[in-house]
Amino acid sequence: MIETIKLSKSYKGKKVVDDVDIYIDEGESIGLLGPNGAGKSTTISMISSLIKPSAGDVKLNGTSTIKNPAEMRRILGVVPQEIALYEELSAYENLKFFGETYKVKRNVLEHRIQDVLNMVGLKDRQKELVKTFSGGMKRRVNIAAALLHQPKILILDEPTVGIDPQSRNHILETVRKLNEEKGTTVLYTSHYMEEVEQLCKRVYVMDHGKVVAAGSKAELLSILSNEDTIQVHLSETSDEVMKKIKAIHHVHRVDEIELGLRVSAKKGSNILSSIVHAVESEGIQLTHFQMETPSLEDVFLHLTGRTLRD
Ligand SMILES: Nc1ncnc2c1ncn2[C@@H]1O[C@H](COP(=O)(O)OP(=O)(O)OP(=O)(O)O)[C@@H](O)[C@H]1O
Ligand SMILES: [Mg+2]
Repeated sequence: MIETIKLSKSYKGKKVVDDVDIYIDEGESIGLLGPNGAGKSTTISMISSLIKPSAGDVKLNGTSTIKNPAEMRRILGVVPQEIALYEELSAYENLKFFGETYKVKRNVLEHRIQDVLNMVGLKDRQKELVKTFSGGMKRRVNIAAALLHQPKILILDEPTVGIDPQSRNHILETVRKLNEEKGTTVLYTSHYMEEVEQLCKRVYVMDHGKVVAAGSKAELLSILSNEDTIQVHLSETSDEVMKKIKAIHHVHRVDEIELGLRVSAKKGSNILSSIVHAVESEGIQLTHFQMETPSLEDVFLHLTGRTLRD
């Protein structure tokens, strides 16, 4: 349905989106995951024809949308990262305004407004001014606005950042229902790994403007199939013991964790006795160890050398 081909954007000679190839089939729910500044918002602004790519193309059913953005705009709903609402108007009045701007026909608008308010769970609050709403409620109005014209494709840019758990659950549930029950195609941007795991069948991982991995959760986890991760709890840590463990053959990386260290090494390399030896030679006690089951967070760490929230 949607395909980006070597999509790129530069600002002042710096590539912030770099040769990004993404495809989204009809009815899919796709996650776009990456830390701050990865290029997620810029990528979706280009997909939505809000900004022009420096190079590359965005295709909708095989046709370039760069010269012909009209069809894409017609079938796309975008929930931007920044909340854009009129604070002095009620939720209802905001939706009425957006409905008219999107040219939703007058005779269906009233019904649509009630429908989308229902979806985001704000029907009872529609008469209240937006300025009296919590951040999470404002975000739900923003989502409702993007749904007024019944878009076939919905793009959400980090819709759950900094909001209350109740609104967060509501938003996740709304997106899930739209995808599973109404067949809406979803592109969901986030730096919360759990949300993307929960909602999306496939994930693109972005870092520094590039797609560094793509696939289903199982496919991404298989990137780590050559690695064992062991948590080693210690009576204390020191730079010296970290250095000694890093030097062990087959060890890929060592990170400090709350109770000790986290050691990643080649699968089946049996490094435990070497770790015990290194620890004891520093006069430190090993209190506990545990093999870890890898998560998508570990895949991200493995690919980029940092955590999503760095
Ligand atoms: N209009 C602009 N002019 C100059 N630089 C920009 C502009 N828009 C984005 N950038 C830069 O491009 C990079 C990617 O930004 P983008 O907003 O796409 O990241 P993001 O992945 O959405 O991050 P976040 O999670 O913080 O929203 C950043 O380094 C940002 O400073
Ligand atoms: Mg962003």
